[in-house]
Amino acid sequence: MSILTGKARLAGITGWPVSHSRSPRLHGFWLERHAIDGAYLPLPIQPRDFPAAIRGLMLAGFAGVNVTLPHKLAAFAICDVVDTSARLAGAVNTLVFQDGQIVGSNTDGWGFLANLRAHGVDPAVGPALILGAGGAARAIAAALRELGIKVTLANRTREKAERLADGLPGLAVIGWDRRDAALADHVLLVNTTSLGMAGQPPLSIDLDGGAPAVADIVYVPLETPLLAAAKARGLPAIDGLGMLLHQAVPGFRAWFGVTPEVDDALYRFVAADLLT
Ligand code: ATR
Repeated sequence: MSILTGKARLAGITGWPVSHSRSPRLHGFWLERHAIDGAYLPLPIQPRDFPAAIRGLMLAGFAGVNVTLPHKLAAFAICDVVDTSARLAGAVNTLVFQDGQIVGSNTDGWGFLANLRAHGVDPAVGPALILGAGGAARAIAAALRELGIKVTLANRTREKAERLADGLPGLAVIGWDRRDAALADHVLLVNTTSLGMAGQPPLSIDLDGGAPAVADIVYVPLETPLLAAAKARGLPAIDGLGMLLHQAVPGFRAWFGVTPEVDDALYRFVAADLLT
């Protein structure tokens, strides 16, 4: 809805830069579909200004904001309250302003699980092998551990995986060169590295050694070489765009009071923008 009333609900995405973000398009689709008196804006905020800007947005009556790079740790630090998802992920991607308090959560892991389920893959079926050890790996590992799933991490820089495992009980770490051999012991492979992203080399892994479901958090391109290889073997292949769509649901619900749906029309609408 482009014409707002004086009661319009306001939210947005904070990042630096933020011009690449698909979140305004995604939330804008839902706002229009539900004819909501509200807006979701791109909010470029320099790191040094982040705490003051967030307090300013709260004072200006915003319902809350999403948080993307490089602010996810700073957002955690300024929260008055954080939920379990944020604590386990060690980072915040969703802020809700409630009665003068900043309440933080991390919906990345939830979005990952919701996306798997939407593809008919039950994340509770068995052990997961996660490649990478950045913020997304941590959020996904935490969500899987919450389900009681055994999680193994492999990262090029092993110490980073070990540091991640130190903060999250129950994670196993293996060497990067062990990833092929480990596949046979896992039913879900998750790529959280930047390998396979447009402009990056593909992830090198041999899927013939095991038969897991394969999820990639990369969504540019939608079909990474890893997912193409999984499809060629008839394995479930789950792209990263669905996770982006699902992680947005809890924030939208909290700010605008409607639970939005992730469906094909939304997927196509956001995917169309990836091609331009
Ligand atoms: P982050 O802030 O999440 O660490 P990043 O630097 O883009 O973001 O890297 C994401 C992940 O991709 C990391 O796990 C990184 O491995 P390192 O921790 O060893 O840097 C992984 N990655 C990036 N390029 C890679 C490559 N060529 N081979 C293997 N892993 C790679």
